[in-house]
Amino acid sequence: MDLKIGLLPGDGIGPEVISEAVKICDVVAKKFGHSITWKTGLVGATAIEKLGNPYPSKTHEICLNSDAVLFGAVGDPKFDNDPSVDIRPEDGLLKMRKELGLYANIRPTFTFESLLEMSPIKKSIVKGTDLIFVRELTGGIYFGKRGTNSVKNYAFDTCEYNQDEIRRLAKIGFELAGKRLKKLCCIDKANVLETSRLWRKTVQSMEKDYPDIDVSYEFVDAVAMRLIHSPKTYDVLITSNLFGDILTDEASVISGSMGLMPSASVGLKTSVYEPIHGSYPKAKGKNIANPLATILSASMMFERSFNLSREAQIIRAAVSESVKEKIVTPDLIEKDKASTTNEVGDWIKDKIDKA
Ligand code: IPM
Ligand code: MG
Repeated sequence: MDLKIGLLPGDGIGPEVISEAVKICDVVAKKFGHSITWKTGLVGATAIEKLGNPYPSKTHEICLNSDAVLFGAVGDPKFDNDPSVDIRPEDGLLKMRKELGLYANIRPTFTFESLLEMSPIKKSIVKGTDLIFVRELTGGIYFGKRGTNSVKNYAFDTCEYNQDEIRRLAKIGFELAGKRLKKLCCIDKANVLETSRLWRKTVQSMEKDYPDIDVSYEFVDAVAMRLIHSPKTYDVLITSNLFGDILTDEASVISGSMGLMPSASVGLKTSVYEPIHGSYPKAKGKNIANPLATILSASMMFERSFNLSREAQIIRAAVSESVKEKIVTPDLIEKDKASTTNEVGDWIKDKIDKA
């Protein structure tokens, strides 16, 4: 196959983890006889600095003309502690999600047997966790009406959803659950919020179309607790934009490091694959960032966007092997035993090459 992949490395450790993922995609392509054309675009703080826009139209063109996009991370501390700036790196990510219609963000949480000790939660609790969040990504409080008064001592953000937005997101959740343990949990705050009541009503009305799926409805605060207490009880979880943002960071702790979990954002146009971690500015340029979340995002890309499951599988297997052999970055091992970002990428590349 000829694969056209857009590359948006972004800020902080983004470029470092992206170059490892590129290495892996290239070796997989070579092995299975595919050719990849890469097109790189600017996004985030890097794009603000060069073009004054965190998601320039040229970058959007690259995304539209690609079969899939690999995304690193955006964010820069320069912007974080200054509430007065009016263009932020994160706006680039949000604009990209909106303009590509990426309404569903699929974020798995799983564990590696050899890393169970890394989780701050007891081994007996996390062992065997395998769940997937489907987070709504283009609506809710992230995109609702907002503002401040003229003296800026008052501000508001609003959460809005319509039934079509909820339905299309829930459909992805129901279908995913159908291919897994057939358990779907709808997370909301229906005891307080009107939008949550609409979520519940909409998902309830869809239940009859999926008679084999066991649907539960849980409040977000209870899920925050149960994720730590009994993560194995979950299979597929659907939720709104903000709740999903918070809970997926929380859930990533189960696996032992945020640097491990990949994601796929899918919707109306080109899908985007990205690690769930951020730009980790403190690690920038130090060759210590964990590339596995990005490499696993590339594996999701082969599976979901190109329907190439053998290619996806060989990446996953090599990643598991690297973790088992303790070829990992310092977030997962004592500093003196750690490998660098490059070394981890090279090891996985060789493993695939020789497989
Ligand atoms: C994420 C991130 C983003 C979000 C930020 C960087 C805007 O935290 O992808 O989870 O809040 O969605
Ligand atoms: Mg987040």
